[in-house]
Amino acid sequence: MKKKILMTYVILLIIGTFVTGVISMTFVKNIYINSLEEKLITNSNLIIDTLITKQNNNKQINYFNLAQKFAKKSRTRITFINDKGKVIADSYNNSNIFENYSNKPEVKMAIRGELRSIQRISSMTKKSSLYIANPPVKINDENLIVRLSASIEEIDRLTKSFIKYTFVAIFFGIMISFFIGYYHIDYMLRPIKKLTRASKLIAKGQFDERVEVSTKDEIGELADSFNKMACKVETMITDMRKLENLRKDFVSNVSHELRTPLTSISGFVETLKSWTTINEADRNKILDIIEFETERLKRLINDILKLSEIENVKLLKEKTKIDIHKSMKEIMYILEPIAKNKSITLEVDISEKINHIVGNIDWFKQMIINLCENAIKYTAEGGKVIVKAYSKEKYLFISIKDNGIGIQKEDIPRVFERFYRVEKARSRNMGGTGLGLAIVKHIVMEFNGEIQLKSHVGVGSEFIIKIPL
Ligand SMILES: Nc1ncnc2c1ncn2[C@@H]1O[C@H](COP(=O)(O)OP(=O)(O)O)[C@@H](O)[C@H]1O
Ligand SMILES: [Mg+2]
Repeated sequence: MKKKILMTYVILLIIGTFVTGVISMTFVKNIYINSLEEKLITNSNLIIDTLITKQNNNKQINYFNLAQKFAKKSRTRITFINDKGKVIADSYNNSNIFENYSNKPEVKMAIRGELRSIQRISSMTKKSSLYIANPPVKINDENLIVRLSASIEEIDRLTKSFIKYTFVAIFFGIMISFFIGYYHIDYMLRPIKKLTRASKLIAKGQFDERVEVSTKDEIGELADSFNKMACKVETMITDMRKLENLRKDFVSNVSHELRTPLTSISGFVETLKSWTTINEADRNKILDIIEFETERLKRLINDILKLSEIENVKLLKEKTKIDIHKSMKEIMYILEPIAKNKSITLEVDISEKINHIVGNIDWFKQMIINLCENAIKYTAEGGKVIVKAYSKEKYLFISIKDNGIGIQKEDIPRVFERFYRVEKARSRNMGGTGLGLAIVKHIVMEFNGEIQLKSHVGVGSEFIIKIPL
């Protein structure tokens, strides 16, 4: 990553410097040529003026001396040519030049009456030069072309040194950009490195890892979403672990609960087998215990199945409209004999104006039965259980109230846990499994409802279910 970015830096720098170099070189070259051209034109005009003045004053014109004089002053090469291309005098060469110049491009143009500069290599000096030739002027019966040239080797030298300096600039540029780029890229890549490190740690299972990036750019945003994602993953993992623990606890609780009656049953069976002589009364007593424990096992397994059914197959359960009044009456019909058995008064007050609710009717009944059975079970003989059902503000309320033993404050939030019993031995002797309220809570949740418990030790308890209609 770093190498790639650094390479891009360097390539951009080279291209940038090169383009700048070429552009400024061309620019400088143009300025140079233009000013040289101007200088040549001015000088040639000056020479022509001098020639005309001399002619007007009827003075003898020594072209060669003139050429030499002006050439020295203006540091150019001066050639006088007639319009046939014959060289009259040349400042560079004092011997006669027999070569006809009419083919030289600048001379050709001059004959045609044009004045424009030409860049070419001089055949005489072998140097790259700039030429201008003035269109013919009549001086003493001769159509005279004044040609001036100057070497532009200077500009070539300049170009060379320009290229040299461009390379030097590129070299230093690369050095500097390497230095700055190194730290800058490091700085830019730091949050990405942090993110990489954090994701590696999370991948290893360190789910509480977060990244701290304060920048408000895309990387900052990425870090933000990363943290949010990490948060979600952490919550999910925590939930999963909790669930896993709950499941483990449940399995060990179930095993424990099952083992107790089984140990008791197998113990008494052994006893029965080992007793060779046994009287009727003892045998019946032992069989009663075995029957009791078997019943308890049955209830336990039943409750476990119910609980797992509510938890696992809830989507498959049939849902119907539940007529609250009718089903409550049916439930009370089952409960009345149980209450009577314990001389407990069962007071029932079910409003007839309640709308129906939708759900599984078996579960609804199970929920009410569990609560009422508890109320009867944990209330002394001669006590009272009041069952009420009414609707208020689009909610169905069902209250089961007793004047029984009550529940301590610190146990209230725990009684809905699986296998939680305030007094284990007492509940067990009364045939309790410790799953009744856990089942109730699950069913209430299935109805999207809530359950509330108010209780005072020695005064009584009230369970209130609230289900949206
Ligand atoms: N109406 C009540 N009055 C007093 N205690 C109750 C009442 N209902 C439940 N409890 C307490 O809550 C515990 C859990 O109830 P539950 O889940 O139905 O299990 P159990 O099989 O013991 O009845 C009971 O063991 C009991 O201690
Ligand atoms: Mg119970």
